[in-house]
Amino acid sequence: MGFPINQILALLIILTIFSSTTTSEKCNPSGKIRGKKPPKDKCNKQNDSECCKAGKLYDKYDCSPQVSRRTKAVLTLNSFQKGGDGGGASECDGKFHSDKTKVVALSTGWLRLNDHLKRCNKTVTIVGNGRRVKARVVDECDSTMGCDEEHDYQPPCQNNIVDASPAVWKALKVKKDDWGYMEVFWFDGGA
Ligand SMILES: *[C@@H]1O[C@H](CO)[C@@H](O)[C@H](O)[C@H]1NC(C)=O
Ligand SMILES: *[C@@H]1O[C@H](CO)[C@@H](O)[C@H](O)[C@H]1NC(C)=O
Repeated sequence: MGFPINQILALLIILTIFSSTTTSEKCNPSGKIRGKKPPKDKCNKQNDSECCKAGKLYDKYDCSPQVSRRTKAVLTLNSFQKGGDGGGASECDGKFHSDKTKVVALSTGWLRLNDHLKRCNKTVTIVGNGRRVKARVVDECDSTMGCDEEHDYQPPCQNNIVDASPAVWKALKVKKDDWGYMEVFWFDGGA
């Protein structure tokens, strides 16, 4: 009696297809960053910004979850104004943006394709709290680095973040006390 070669082959092919689809959707950490204690007066704790803790290991990511017509994300709050908790000027245009304009930063894997800032200046639509708003992408929420001066001694960004200006939270009609963390969906464009 021979082995059912055809069936084994079919099974192998199916397994290969399955594992390649799961790896393309999954995004695992690319490494760790060891936290340093922020120097005095560094790390702006306003608006619930997290500060790195000495010795703690933080995941970093080169990738983000695959984008679809309904990509799950965590909406966070950031001020892109001068002196705001976003730190320096925005990565996409080298400018600051008023808290009254609807702008966002995206996690590295969603903003960039390798070195290309592919979603800079693009419109995305954010769906949350039963509403949808359009916002312009102006900055990076850096998932690859953190706990240093450039990132105000805050940990690297998670890989699924839409970091939004106060105007975005307001347009979603979220109660001000609840601004800072909300599960949302987003998609490219403004349809
Ligand atoms: C904190 O958030 C408010 C909006 O809720 C903003 O006006 C303010 O500038 C933020 N603070 C900092 C330091 O970014
Ligand atoms: C985004 O738009 C600004 C003009 O508002 C431009 O200066 C900048 O080069 C653009 N950035 C990218 C990465 O295309």
